[in-house]
Amino acid sequence: MEVSLGDPAQFIRDHTVLTPTPLVPEISLFVATEILPIWQMTEDEMQQAGLPPPFWAFAWAGGQALARYVLDNPHLVSGQRVLDFGAGSGLAGIAAMLAGASRVDAADIDPVAIIAIGLNARANNIILHAIEGDIVGQLARGWDVVLAADVCYEGPASKRIVAWLDELARGGVLVLMGDPGRTYFPKSGHEKLISYGVKTTTELEDTDLRNTSVWRVTG
Ligand SMILES: C[S@@+](CC[C@H](N)C(=O)[O-])C[C@H]1O[C@@H](n2cnc3c(N)ncnc32)[C@H](O)[C@@H]1O
Repeated sequence: MEVSLGDPAQFIRDHTVLTPTPLVPEISLFVATEILPIWQMTEDEMQQAGLPPPFWAFAWAGGQALARYVLDNPHLVSGQRVLDFGAGSGLAGIAAMLAGASRVDAADIDPVAIIAIGLNARANNIILHAIEGDIVGQLARGWDVVLAADVCYEGPASKRIVAWLDELARGGVLVLMGDPGRTYFPKSGHEKLISYGVKTTTELEDTDLRNTSVWRVTG
């Protein structure tokens, strides 16, 4: 299979299908119906181009839980400026816009995710402001709420991210995380708000139903 890195939007359209999200059927995303082929292909071929695996091609359990919670509790984001950090597909950010946020920034280090975020936003008739790059450690850019879903999957990176989210929370930002019990999710510094059984795929997870919680970071 040929990878056209010159046109990431076409690449995304060619390798995904616009699909309602299991826990959040109000939101459809361009996701891979079969994860493994795209994952392996991109791992081999995109790695050569210096790109990470296609996290954006999947609605992660943490993102589904956080999106569900935000849609069911719109008062948390209504009229607020929101950051979806480690946005991937943009799922949590899309939920925030649909719940009435005044503006949502969606940040990811993966340039292909930035394109996916735009396509997914358009498919759900909303606008997200994509930020490409690593913004960990930066001062809040006017955000009232920061959403971070499924971002604790690597040791040193998680430590950095969590320290930054703690700092934002201590500074008065409402920081909400969605996490299905990843190894590097911190043991303290947060309170559990809700748990869901989230349908996922055994192609990427060890089970097809993950108990996933939404947490408020207390710092
Ligand atoms: C497991 S995916 C979760 C995506 C989405 N939040 C969801 O729940 O479906 C993690 C995402 O975090 C992004 N990421 C990791 N480190 C980051 C950083 N320092 N800054 C911005 N994004 C980052 C990755 O590129 C990836 O898209």
